[in-house]
Amino acid sequence: MKVVHTIEELRDQLRGQLRVAFVPTMGNLHDGHLALMKMARQHGDPVVASIFVNRLQFGPNEDFDRYPRTLASDIEKLERDRNVYVLFAPDEKEMYPEPQNFQIQPPADLGGILEGHFRPGFFTGVATVVLKLFSCVQPRVAVFGKKDYQQLMVVRSMCRQFQLPVDILAHETVRDENGLALSSRNRYLSDSERAEAPNLYAVLDGIKQQVLAGNTDRLQLEDEAIRHLNARGWQVDYVALRRQRDLLPPTSEEIAAGEPVVALAAARLGDTRLIDNLEVQPSSSVSWL
Ligand code: PAJ
Repeated sequence: MKVVHTIEELRDQLRGQLRVAFVPTMGNLHDGHLALMKMARQHGDPVVASIFVNRLQFGPNEDFDRYPRTLASDIEKLERDRNVYVLFAPDEKEMYPEPQNFQIQPPADLGGILEGHFRPGFFTGVATVVLKLFSCVQPRVAVFGKKDYQQLMVVRSMCRQFQLPVDILAHETVRDENGLALSSRNRYLSDSERAEAPNLYAVLDGIKQQVLAGNTDRLQLEDEAIRHLNARGWQVDYVALRRQRDLLPPTSEEIAAGEPVVALAAARLGDTRLIDNLEVQPSSSVSWL
């Protein structure tokens, strides 16, 4: 694997390559990231990964400064897996040589809700850096995780609207056996918080099971989940049952008619903010007979 730190070296490595598959990350790689690299390997060649902790997408009171930066061990993991051909690991000066005054602002109906509501500016920071990374790497396909469901939708919608020649592939969320979605932020958790953390997934799975059993009362499902998490010591930003296609709230009738939905949650345990989501395909109770 070649490790490059500048855009010029990256371009040199990729000259003439038309089938590049790209996986952008912020590093501190875990098995979720590595699964994305493997998927990229199946959909293009060569595979390029990036590691860049993007200041633009962090709020003033968020964890930019303490976000884990573990480049040496990340490189070891990528070398061991042998899926990545070039790792692009720019520093801040390389990505932002001057203040980034042009930025990509996602539309409010997608970028201003849920994560965007609780983290103002987050999706503008994500969309801007993803566009810049795409412009550096010029991939044919790029792989994103469903773990960050709304981010995936923002990136897809940006690519569609700007007619970027990049196919966005989605990888399922990779979890521990206990259900906890793998995340670089899990390393902030204390032992007792780590024991509690899988309950975020358990709550989403509870919603899923109830929807599958025919419960179409979105607000009741959301309220019950929020109360449950609060009672266990979480500070909940949101638990929301939404339509998969546009993240708008489904009506009861839509759920009953089999509208694909997704339960999304964001909540804090102590100082650590975790997010997760689970897709649900309700069985249609509409009878055509
Ligand atoms: P990061 O949090 O490092 O995640 C990089 C990619 O890995 C994202 O597409 C994310 O959805 C995916 N991912 C993380 N945990 C996962 C898991 N448990 N299962 C499956 N996929 C997982 O997301 C970002 O970085 C940044 O916002 C970025 C897109 C790189 C822009 O800065």
